[in-house]
Amino acid sequence: MKIACIGAGYVGGPTMAMIAKKCPEIEVVVVDINEARIAAWNSDKLPIYEPGLFEVVKEARGRNLFFSTDVGKHVGEADIVFVSVNTPTKTSGVGAGKAADLTYWEGAARVIASVSTSSKIIVEKSTVPVKTAEAIEKVLRRNCKDSSVHFEILSNPEFLAEGTAIEDLTMPDRVLIGGKDTETGRAAIASLASVYAHWVPEDRILRTNLWSAELSKLTANAMLAQRISSVNSISALCEATGADVQQVSKAIGTDSRIGPKFLNASVGFGGSCFQKDILNLVYICETVGLQQVADYWNQVILMNDYQKDRFVQRVISAMFNTISKKKIAVYGFAFKKDTGDTRETPAIDVCRGLVADGANVCVYDPEVTDDQIHADLTQQTYEWYDHPNPRSAPVDKKAIGISHDPMEAANDAHAICILTEWDEFKHYDYQKVYESMHKPAFIFDGRNILDHAKLREIGFIVYAVGKPLEAFLQKEY
Ligand code: NAD
Ligand code: UDX
Repeated sequence: MKIACIGAGYVGGPTMAMIAKKCPEIEVVVVDINEARIAAWNSDKLPIYEPGLFEVVKEARGRNLFFSTDVGKHVGEADIVFVSVNTPTKTSGVGAGKAADLTYWEGAARVIASVSTSSKIIVEKSTVPVKTAEAIEKVLRRNCKDSSVHFEILSNPEFLAEGTAIEDLTMPDRVLIGGKDTETGRAAIASLASVYAHWVPEDRILRTNLWSAELSKLTANAMLAQRISSVNSISALCEATGADVQQVSKAIGTDSRIGPKFLNASVGFGGSCFQKDILNLVYICETVGLQQVADYWNQVILMNDYQKDRFVQRVISAMFNTISKKKIAVYGFAFKKDTGDTRETPAIDVCRGLVADGANVCVYDPEVTDDQIHADLTQQTYEWYDHPNPRSAPVDKKAIGISHDPMEAANDAHAICILTEWDEFKHYDYQKVYESMHKPAFIFDGRNILDHAKLREIGFIVYAVGKPLEAFLQKEY
């Protein structure tokens, strides 16, 4: 059996590396039009930072795992073609700001149709709107010159999270395969299931119809993001009342019906999936006339914007309503720990908000490159929808400092903002950090990872998301 995967990104690369590792008898080729990305997959410096990924790639690369820019050749030869291309939010035309842009998907489908001389199973790995399989089938069927070629489409959405991709792929909660309830559909589902069955227990391989699989992916992300927005909304109430959001999360999370995961209050959720997929869901609801359902899910995004804006407001108000010309160290720029990915990271809105109010930020992140930070903060981003945060406009490069040393970033700063939960932030010598800063020295913990009591002992004024404010703690400063 030969598998080809179109798209060597955060999903295509790790997913195929895992299949190749677990199925040594299957040839797996990941193809992409991006030459630099393919070159990086073939090198010792992979294009994405993901713990444990290099070891998995190294084990299979050159044996039965290959990365190539020759899309036509490998897709033409494959029995199963995964499509794992990007499906971003549309930026123009009908549905701009909400609907998924399927340009890349359709482009991939046209390539598959044009090079296919044998029947294939086409697997939707990308996150797509419900009913995409129907449209893709038409594109494939009408563009393939050989009428004897049969394409069987399956939906096999990916549930891995960045930073834990290898763990998630090794022991997935479930593998979801949606397909048609026809003879060829059932055979295709069985064929794909047999690949995963090399390492995933049979009872974790769920079979559904195509539309349920497509919709389950959007729903899973919407529900996960909704938990974060819910707990973040409560964090605002905690700050107003003196309750502690971590205590509340623990208390509610011990209820087995609620469960403890995804209840960490934060500066806001980021990442390439949550906002995009909820907007997509909102758009689908609107197009089928379910405005109330659309409004319900849109509120999850609005609450996330409110949380980021609230964080900036807190920094400004705590620092005597003036941060103009003050240096603020930003610890963490990635959207979560253990990744260098900055797509939709809350750090973008927060840094822009601080700079818009006159601050000079100095960013330290152990993985994100300087170019990425500059691009994220200075380039125009599309206003997806009525954005309640007017500060999130691009800022001047001159106001952005970047340091590769956390001590240097904090030197002469008035405040530190923790925006990513990198483990190393917990282990710094904060006494030394304090001594190098202007007084009063502030720490705004947007991830609730530091020892606040210890920091207060050192002399810091500490604000943390959903934690009793200094006023409630009756601290003088
Ligand atoms: P990505 O942008 O990292 O990778 C997509 C790749 O596809 C790019 O390298 C691009 O060059 C390539 N590509 C686009 N069109 C192509 C074509 N016609 N031929 C060959 N290559 C082509 O995206 P990603 O983060 O890997 O996400 C891919 C899909 O998976 C998206 O639909 C996303 O919503 C979904 N998803 C992502 C995650 C995640 O954690 N990033 C998790 C689950 C699902
Ligand atoms: C998410 C889904 O978890 C995954 O199943 C899907 O396949 C892709 O989208 P990802 O975006 O990589 O994965 O990371 P995730 O761990 O879900 O975190 C998303 C954002 O939510 C991050 O910014 C994270 O810091 C934030 N978060 C997460 C919180 O603020 N609080 C939490 O309790 C959990």
